[in-house]
Amino acid sequence: PQPLPLAPDLRIVIVGHVDHGKSTLVGRLLHDTGALPDGKMEQIQASCDKRGMAFEWSFLMDALQAERDQNVTIDTTQIWFSSSARRYCLIDAPGHREFLKNMITGAATADAAVLMIDAAEGIKEQSRRHAYLLHLLGIRQVVVVVNKMDLVGYRQDMFDAICAEFKTYLAELGITPAAMIPVCARSGENLTAKAASMPWYRGGDLLQVLDGFEASLPADAAPLRVVVQDVYRFDARRIIAGRVESGTLSVGDRVVFSPSGLSAVVKQFEQWPENLPPKLQASAGEAIGFTLQEQVFVERGQVASHEHDMPLLTNRFEARIFWLHDVPLQVGNHYRFKMGTTNLRVEVLEVLQVLDTQTLVHQPLARVEKHAVAQVSLRIKGMVAVDDPQTLPRTGRFVLQAGEHIAGGGLIVNDGLQDMRVQIHKSVKSENISAVDFEISPQARALTNGHKGGVLWFTGLSGSGKSTLAKELQKELFAKGYQVYVLDGDNVRYGLCSDLGFSPEDRSENIRRVGEVANLFADAGFVVIAAFISPYRMDRERARNISPDAFRSIYIKAGVDVCEQRDTKGLYKKARAGEIADFTGVSAPYEEPESPDLVVDTTNQTIEQSTRMLLDYVQRQFGV
Ligand code: ADX
Repeated sequence: PQPLPLAPDLRIVIVGHVDHGKSTLVGRLLHDTGALPDGKMEQIQASCDKRGMAFEWSFLMDALQAERDQNVTIDTTQIWFSSSARRYCLIDAPGHREFLKNMITGAATADAAVLMIDAAEGIKEQSRRHAYLLHLLGIRQVVVVVNKMDLVGYRQDMFDAICAEFKTYLAELGITPAAMIPVCARSGENLTAKAASMPWYRGGDLLQVLDGFEASLPADAAPLRVVVQDVYRFDARRIIAGRVESGTLSVGDRVVFSPSGLSAVVKQFEQWPENLPPKLQASAGEAIGFTLQEQVFVERGQVASHEHDMPLLTNRFEARIFWLHDVPLQVGNHYRFKMGTTNLRVEVLEVLQVLDTQTLVHQPLARVEKHAVAQVSLRIKGMVAVDDPQTLPRTGRFVLQAGEHIAGGGLIVNDGLQDMRVQIHKSVKSENISAVDFEISPQARALTNGHKGGVLWFTGLSGSGKSTLAKELQKELFAKGYQVYVLDGDNVRYGLCSDLGFSPEDRSENIRRVGEVANLFADAGFVVIAAFISPYRMDRERARNISPDAFRSIYIKAGVDVCEQRDTKGLYKKARAGEIADFTGVSAPYEEPESPDLVVDTTNQTIEQSTRMLLDYVQRQFGV
């Protein structure tokens, strides 16, 4: 008879408590399906005999792993075996370190999972945690094996009790196991054939259940996502190299690159060697190089899609994470956010809840310990293209890195995600515009920065504390992640206003220029602190009118007597001695602000008090 066509390969992961017999299960499966190299069993048996030890399947697994580790040409994280229906790839075989990390980073993606429980020991903390992780990673095809049934006398009641308890837990996660199988891995019972020892069990053996699972095929029909790895220059061509994570890309397609929002038409696929028949289409899973009809700016980290189903854009979102790092995650900490080829700095804004994987009870906590699952709110420095992890896991899952370490991983929580595409892609008007012409709304900048742009106009006498407070405030704001910059009288008079003196006209022009520059900074999203005596009311009002919404006048108040006493720069002394003409407060007027937005009286306040006051004000006024 004609052999039946084989089903597609299935990638499985076997998870369970360390002592619950994973090595034995895998060793036995390999043996019973004929996947072990010839003579390997006998070799291990012989060496066990020689040392007077009983044969252990784990020795065999260790020996195989050691061999694989030696052999650079074999992917050491994969082990294969076959049933009559298909090939299986084990992506978590015993001896594979870092399995959790591999799962979370997406280095290993499983179609299905085998959850192991020890019949004698019952459900352990780790069993629950692993089940939760599978749920988190969206692995829905699960089979539970209750191992070491021999140790409980093959008793049905023992098996039933474990099943009932674990089923309830899985149900709370929304996982319905395809089967729960009583097995004895050591003797191979119920692995590849039904065991005579447990006649009360009427379901299929493990291999039968696995054969019933479906392999997830590359998502050709899903929305197109090409993660850009690099852009190479070859003669006049700019070749975009990347991987089709989902969907299909064809020559002639118009693609949009996120987050830049620039679009262009695919000219051709570049192939090597060049005399191959021209390639017209690429599908999910393929690594490709292609050129565009128009020259648009593309760089590593961007994601190409079709115009009608672009990814969402955001820089602030909630995520469900699994923490792997020894050092707990805490609010205010910064990590690297890695998704595809994107690598950006991320800040933890809030830990919304920490989940106890035992009880599935949420607790509000400020930190996330190793192996905990939590819902957190994150802010990224820069915009990222993201997708719903349920439909597009490749662009919906991410990794958090602390220094060189993979510290955790997670999924974007799509509910309530602030999609910023609208603001950013307001007007792609013509095909030939460049990024420079792009409209970025103040709202988009504000969301990126975590605050609005603004002008803090410090006015006051020389020596009142403008520069000192500007300096302190800038430090505080900068530490809080603000885009902040100081424009200071003395400093701009070295450059931008080096042609100006202290006559009323020159001061007026000084304030006008600075008002314009401050407006540009505010427009660029910055909180700009302008520290200028600006003694004339009229000049200050003109400056306000340049950026009416963003402008706040802040009177740094201290009387002439106090300032003169301080005389930080020795200028009052000089002015009194007649060495400086038109010195404000001595020989030139200072018009006090009539209704400033804020008064900071530095006469008796400490620098700390004044800085705190300013900081609170800025956060109230410009925070989002
Ligand atoms: S403003 O009045 O035109 O706004 P601005 O703030 O730029 O003045 O510069 C003031 C600084 O210039 C003072 O802090 C002081 O160090 C220096 N300075 C030099 N000459 C004068 C002067 N005649 N009057 C005031 N400040 C002066």
